[in-house]
Amino acid sequence: MRIGFFDSGIGGMSVLHQALRLLPNEDYLFYADTLHVPYGEKSKEEVRDYIFSAADFLADQGIKALVIACNTATSIAVDDLRHKYDFPILGIEPAVKPAIQSCAGKQKKVLVLATNLTLQEEKFHNLVRSLDQHDIVDSLALPGLVLFAENFEFRKEKVIPYLKEQLASFDITQYGTIVLGCTHFPYFENSIRAIFPDNTNIISGSMGTAKNLKRILEEKNLINKEGTGDVTFFQSGIKIEDQETLSKYKRLLGKLDKVIS
Ligand code: SIN
Repeated sequence: MRIGFFDSGIGGMSVLHQALRLLPNEDYLFYADTLHVPYGEKSKEEVRDYIFSAADFLADQGIKALVIACNTATSIAVDDLRHKYDFPILGIEPAVKPAIQSCAGKQKKVLVLATNLTLQEEKFHNLVRSLDQHDIVDSLALPGLVLFAENFEFRKEKVIPYLKEQLASFDITQYGTIVLGCTHFPYFENSIRAIFPDNTNIISGSMGTAKNLKRILEEKNLINKEGTGDVTFFQSGIKIEDQETLSKYKRLLGKLDKVIS
């Protein structure tokens, strides 16, 4: 059986990319809800409906695990999804804990970049409240990066001016670690790196989620040894057959080799 991946759009491919590295002998279904992206600027209720119809669609295909490769969808629905389905469901959360650890004793702060909805959610506030004893975590919503990614716009000359504008009121030298709290953001790691001082760490939860997926499949004896890393792509429930779109998606997975270490 295959593993389902779900995102509001193409961001989840940054998690799929890590899963393909760790679990190359699995086959995958990747569902991008391109009809409804961006989630981060919509109401929680509307987004919940989209998430459940995508999960129903993937469940109907017959999957052995589901990865919610979207921070916004995870913060809104992962707990409820786990009540509905029998297969393991993994989500992705901003990597606040390792970020705080990496700044310990360095007089540096953490900046979490995510969507508005993720940053507004109780899940995020609880996470920060439970870990941020010295009040070093700041956050910033960057919805423009989701739109850039969905428009396949990755050029630094477009992205960097947007980032500079959004960060204009921040003292960027005070941050030791930047957390990419949206799966669309790793595509822009090079642009983000170009703005912050050289020694700033940039981390995301993608590898952590892929490692959790591997661990859970092993624990449940669900590892496939005969798959080929095949990925079937869907856009809001429609299988992508058009070669041009398919090669765009595949090129993106390749692009991630250059930005994610
Ligand atoms: C979005 O659709 O706004 C981005 C979702 C996410 O990865 O948080």
